[in-house]
Amino acid sequence: MSQPYDAIVLGAGAAGLFCAATAGQCGKRVLLLDHAERVGKKILISGGGRCNFTNIHTAPDRYLSANPHFAKSALGRFSPRDFLVLVEAYGIAWHEKTLGQLFCDGSARQIVDMLLEECAKGHVDVRCGEALGGVEHGDGLYRVTFGAEVFAAPALVIATGGPSIPKMGASGVAYDLARQFGLKVVQPRPALVPLTLPGDEALFRDLSGVATEVEIVCNKARFREAALFTHRGLSGPAILQISSYWQRGDTLHTRFLPDRAPGWLIEAKRERPRAGFRKVLGEGLPDRLAEALCGRLGIEGEMAALTDKALRAAEEKLARWPFVPDGSEGYAKAEVTAGGIDTAGLSSKTMEARKVQGLYAIGEAVDVTGWLGGYNFQWAWASGRAAGEAI
Ligand code: FDA
Repeated sequence: MSQPYDAIVLGAGAAGLFCAATAGQCGKRVLLLDHAERVGKKILISGGGRCNFTNIHTAPDRYLSANPHFAKSALGRFSPRDFLVLVEAYGIAWHEKTLGQLFCDGSARQIVDMLLEECAKGHVDVRCGEALGGVEHGDGLYRVTFGAEVFAAPALVIATGGPSIPKMGASGVAYDLARQFGLKVVQPRPALVPLTLPGDEALFRDLSGVATEVEIVCNKARFREAALFTHRGLSGPAILQISSYWQRGDTLHTRFLPDRAPGWLIEAKRERPRAGFRKVLGEGLPDRLAEALCGRLGIEGEMAALTDKALRAAEEKLARWPFVPDGSEGYAKAEVTAGGIDTAGLSSKTMEARKVQGLYAIGEAVDVTGWLGGYNFQWAWASGRAAGEAI
């Protein structure tokens, strides 16, 4: 067996890299293992290659979890500002894009290089490109088979993420390991994912490529961002956000033209009686969408010819347009996986399993899922930092 380490971190993604660097810089001998040939693959493709590395509006209510309080401790002790201090120390230029989302001006590669440099400062031993074999636990040591070697340490950190985007090497091994050690797993599901529409919504699929700002509501969740029609259904930030809250059978209520004040159609009729209904809709919506909505509403002609009652009904429909997705595009297209290792079995301060000494779980593997917009990386950094300091 190779030399003993103080900790083995499984998974060199955002959480694993940050955890390993933290523990290493605290003086621990850390081994970081990943089956991919390169570290941080999801970081590299994130944010369209510019990595939306945090969100300045990070708060626990922007995360989904069976225990909404669980993330408070780690998020409270490592803030977006803390990560930004590190980013700036490395001279990485950044900008706020929208809604508090911070991106690199240059490339996501800078974040991966920064994390690798932080690991190097902590003398972390990084090994990639071998298959992870079994994990055994006995005599106070975790023994991990990796390729042809077996490594041992008294602490093991599960940082292998969730199964979203399997073609990038994502796997559900975190859940297998958790169950092996008696931890429960909250049913994982694709999240931040495009939704599909059934055949009777074919009219909307014809709008593939059309985007518009909407307010979208599902149960108690509400987002205002762009929605995009696709050849399979709905996508765009508003839909990805709401998808994390959507369950089969739920109706999405979409407010088109969310800035219009109540009574706006009747007012438009008073002001411009000769204007066509379709033209009035088209002033705030892409042409093809305005045409499709007119068709669905069954309304055409000049505003003057339409009754106030019909206009009020149209306005109400446009403010609560129902879509009933029949599914999602699944893990192949999901930015994250919701659900995961049940937080009930973990300490929110250290991320250590309550009943299994030396076993930690961090990042996306855990049942904490952020909104779109840098929240998931912030959770990876914060949970990685919490475990790295505790090891
Ligand atoms: P992550 O998935 O990063 O890392 C897990 C590591 O474990 C990987 O390196 C993997 O190879 C390894 N692994 C998996 N199975 C293994 C096995 N069996 N054996 C050994 N190693 C194994 N978030 C955000 O905040 N801002 C953004 O801009 C984006 N953008 C974005 C774009 C796209 C296309 C995707 C798919 C996702 C995002 N995200 C995001 C989400 C973000 O990437 C995600 O939440 C974090 O990467 C999670 O970090 P983790 O370290 O937990 O898992």
